[in-house]
Amino acid sequence: MNNPLDVAAVVGSLRRESYTRRLVEALAQLTGPSMRIEIVRIADLSLYNQDDEPTPPAPWVEFRTRIKRADAVLFATPEYNRSVPACLKNAIDVGSRPYGHSAWAGKPAAVISASPGTLGAFGANNHLRQSLAAVDMPTLQHPEAYIGGIDKLLTADGQLANPGIRSFGEKFVSAFESWIRRTA
Ligand code: FNR
Repeated sequence: MNNPLDVAAVVGSLRRESYTRRLVEALAQLTGPSMRIEIVRIADLSLYNQDDEPTPPAPWVEFRTRIKRADAVLFATPEYNRSVPACLKNAIDVGSRPYGHSAWAGKPAAVISASPGTLGAFGANNHLRQSLAAVDMPTLQHPEAYIGGIDKLLTADGQLANPGIRSFGEKFVSAFESWIRRTA
């Protein structure tokens, strides 16, 4: 059998009990053996400063190398003030440089956003898509994934809490896998 698709997940929350991270962990359990989702740590990435490029910090180098190795990237974001949290934007900026050596270029992507509120982080999801266009990532358009009420959709043991969200999660990962294979 071929190797499973390697999907790097970039999660825009550093919070220990992050709903967004727990959502990705639950989605990772819904893939078949042909795809694997692994969360990539962004908490150690210092704020992007171009002056650091001659000797880039080790976490930047590790992050860029990990993303380059991936077949695709899943972005999962909460919403801060109707946009993406700074840690996620910083990770995108770090991965995009040095100029001409972006880790993102051409890699298939998907976006899922989540909030305890009703709008499902729609604003963050769409701001994020603007950046993904800028770094040249072909991004899954449908199904759109704005997950509202996330605080009620995860069980204590990390599962999706009801058949409706489980079925959506399955549909989302399956559409993403088709998108990755079509884009390759
Ligand atoms: C928020 N939150 C929030 N929620 C939302 O739906 N729209 C928003 O614009 C904001 N703005 C916002 C700003 C800041 C600075 C914080 C700390 C929070 C609430 C947010 O959705 C909530 O804290 C989530 O739990 C964050 O996601 P994680 O950390 O659980 O993944």
